[in-house]
Amino acid sequence: MRWTTAKIRQSFLDFFAERGHTIVPSASLIPKGDPTLLFVNAGMVPFKDYFLGVRTPQHLRVVDVQKCLRISGKHNDLEAVGRDTYHHTFFEMLGNWSFGDYYKEEAIRWHWELITKVWGVDPSLLYATVHKDDKEAEDIWIKLKVLPRDRILQFGDKDNFWEMGPTGPCGPNSEISIDRGEGACSPEKNHPGQKCFVNVDGCERFIEIGNLVFIQYNRDESGKLTPLPKKHVDTGTGLERTAAALQSIEAGKVLGNYDIDLFQTIIKKIEIAAKELGDGHAYGKNVESDISYRAIADHARTMTFLIADGVTPGNTDREYVLRRIIRRAARHGRYLGIHRPFLAMAHAGVVEAMGDAYPEIKKAAAKTAEVITQEESRFGETLDRGLELIDTELAHIKKGGGHTLPGEIAFKLYDTYGFPLDLTEDVLRNHSIDVDVAGFNIFMDQQRTRSRIVRAGLQGIARGPSQFENEGLSSRFVGYHSYEGESEVLAAGGRDGDQVAVVVAETPFYPEGGGQIGDRGVIESASGAILEVLDTRKAEGSIVHVGRILRGDAGDFARGARVKLKVDKLRRDAARLNHSATHILHYALRDVLGSSVHQAGSLVDPDKLRFDFAHTGPVKDDALATIEEEINARIRENAEVTVEEMAYDDAIKAGALAFFGDKYGDRVRVVRMGDFSVELCGGTHISRTGDVGMFKLEAESGVAAGVRRIEAVTGQGALETIRKREKILEEIGAQLGARDGAAVDRLEKLLAREKELEKKLRAMEQKLASGASGASSEETVTEVGGIKVVTRKLDGVDPRMMREIADRMRQKHGSAVVALGSDLGDGKVALLVAVTPDLTSKIKAGDIIKNIAPIVGGTGGGRPDLAQAGGRDATKLDEALAKVATLVS
Ligand code: ALA
Repeated sequence: MRWTTAKIRQSFLDFFAERGHTIVPSASLIPKGDPTLLFVNAGMVPFKDYFLGVRTPQHLRVVDVQKCLRISGKHNDLEAVGRDTYHHTFFEMLGNWSFGDYYKEEAIRWHWELITKVWGVDPSLLYATVHKDDKEAEDIWIKLKVLPRDRILQFGDKDNFWEMGPTGPCGPNSEISIDRGEGACSPEKNHPGQKCFVNVDGCERFIEIGNLVFIQYNRDESGKLTPLPKKHVDTGTGLERTAAALQSIEAGKVLGNYDIDLFQTIIKKIEIAAKELGDGHAYGKNVESDISYRAIADHARTMTFLIADGVTPGNTDREYVLRRIIRRAARHGRYLGIHRPFLAMAHAGVVEAMGDAYPEIKKAAAKTAEVITQEESRFGETLDRGLELIDTELAHIKKGGGHTLPGEIAFKLYDTYGFPLDLTEDVLRNHSIDVDVAGFNIFMDQQRTRSRIVRAGLQGIARGPSQFENEGLSSRFVGYHSYEGESEVLAAGGRDGDQVAVVVAETPFYPEGGGQIGDRGVIESASGAILEVLDTRKAEGSIVHVGRILRGDAGDFARGARVKLKVDKLRRDAARLNHSATHILHYALRDVLGSSVHQAGSLVDPDKLRFDFAHTGPVKDDALATIEEEINARIRENAEVTVEEMAYDDAIKAGALAFFGDKYGDRVRVVRMGDFSVELCGGTHISRTGDVGMFKLEAESGVAAGVRRIEAVTGQGALETIRKREKILEEIGAQLGARDGAAVDRLEKLLAREKELEKKLRAMEQKLASGASGASSEETVTEVGGIKVVTRKLDGVDPRMMREIADRMRQKHGSAVVALGSDLGDGKVALLVAVTPDLTSKIKAGDIIKNIAPIVGGTGGGRPDLAQAGGRDATKLDEALAKVATLVS
């Protein structure tokens, strides 16, 4: 084969390189810094800024082969792929560029030369087109004298004005088309009623093999064209169709794009897969299988190049395009009888055919195969079931003479079976059945709302009512009188191991609101999975249960799953009690402090309640006592608690308290207690006030200017609090050796005695400090060999007191040997020696005392830091103390 695709690529680059062009490699499929496009859809996209004059090119003439993807936006060929023999999503575009350098004349002349001289195409097969207003281009063709006048054709904007997208650089163009002969097209099939010719839509006989765009405008968002500062050339020649044309001429028969060498390498690999895993149909044997072969070959290239350029399958933007392409290819695999992952084989074919020209796909090959197979396996699990569903629905529609698949089914295919909408449409196209896309979109919108609600639930963001509610998809709270229920999952989200959120149609779980905390409990799926509900919250009219999976996985709680719900009853009952108690508290506050008091917020949990209210200044103790009295009186009254639904206005007329800014609907719940309390409230309550059992006020404090807070406990909580306190009292009693009233007496006595002692001590200290007694002396401080020796004579100070005085002296001097002698009267004396810890290794108090005690006729001993002795000769006290310094030295 002379004109292999590889050779065509190279000849193009060489031709323009010889004409002063710099060869540059293909840019990534992902446009850099261009938010207007998902993918590079033409060779000129990476050069956009040069045309616009925003950036200056390094070279004025450039040639390249650019990877392109026409799968979204203005240029989208996806639907045609496979069905004919020349459309692709991924393709290679040969291009030469002039950035404000040469213009129409050279562009036309060189392309003619390339096609006819280098590639050797017979001029009699060629046609040129120009824009009807582009006289300049037409004249160039005429002057070239290579084509007869009747093969230089004029067309309007549709065919001869080129744009990359809704905005961007653009201009008129001139195209060169080749007549591939009568056998190349079936006019009755491709374009009934029209003869084969240039620019006839769907015609496979006249094919454009060179598009020369003369870029001279920029189209802005408003659609306006503005002339560019410079004029440029942007050319594009599809490599695959060029190869098909040249290889056809060589083979003497019409070949489609998928028959060229490059695609045959890929298709061979798919044939092997079909033989090993599928029904074994080879390419070219069966019209239906051939469509799938071409689609798979095309999609295999797209996925290979996208993954190599860093895209991975996902649910938005580029990621979703990749997912769709892999899933479509997997579906075509089913049509070849392949029910297992096989696309990695097609991918290997792509790498073999194109890896030399594009080293990046070789480098990424291992990872790419893994990504593809993973996505394929994931989808494979539901693909067959989805296709079955389509079959069933098709039979249904055909029987009824319909032509449309309901949006709900398309959504189910999307949501449950992972069928992208375009995949469903593609499957149905064979049966001339449409999808109700508008209907599908409604379901998609609901889906988005559901995800939003689940997210809000997980993040603990309370939201007001939504459209979701109006669509009858909101969840209903049915837990005023029950703690258990059964329902169906409306929405779910979150991941295994993390927090999971579940919304059901009807739930006994109370969602946090009106100060009452959300319920806890468990939800069990029909499959036996268990979700531990840690909190229940409201979001957009839905009730979201947030928790973690204890058994099974998140999939067990997917939309549509039947579940059993069980509220933690003890916890709810405790919260319910506290909630009712706040109503009684609210009443009592207004009764005792006046009706200007009103609620400013509350928190009701199983252990305690907190109630904030508007009031200036602290509430006095006696008022607090009265409030507590009043509340407990209402509890003992055991008044009936009734709940009634009525219109908001009627409720207010009935005197209901509704100070709090809850968003009440038209119908409200009115909670009455005896004849003293009427409040609007959505919370859960007891049936008689006596259920509260007991109300114990715990604290009153200020939380903000003009806002006070009362904290209290009720029922069992109150009892426990009181018990705890009793226990403390008992312990105190045990320590005091007396109980109840006697303990108080005892404590009073102890405190009085302590005061008395304190007083005595003070007096004593003062006496010492002032040295009031003549016999007491001041300290004598001497230094012996760097060691401070401090002595002092005392009068009538007992040994216990001496120790205290020694301690203080040691503290005062920091590092010292302290010696004290006290005259106790009747000739008796006491001696004390204390040594600060830093000196005890050298000097031991005990040693010193042993030496000085005999002087006063006594004996003694002690520890290295403290030693004491008694004696009987007070007259020798000074002598004994004086000896200390000698001993230290
Ligand atoms: N930019 C032109 C095209 O893509 C050459 O066809």
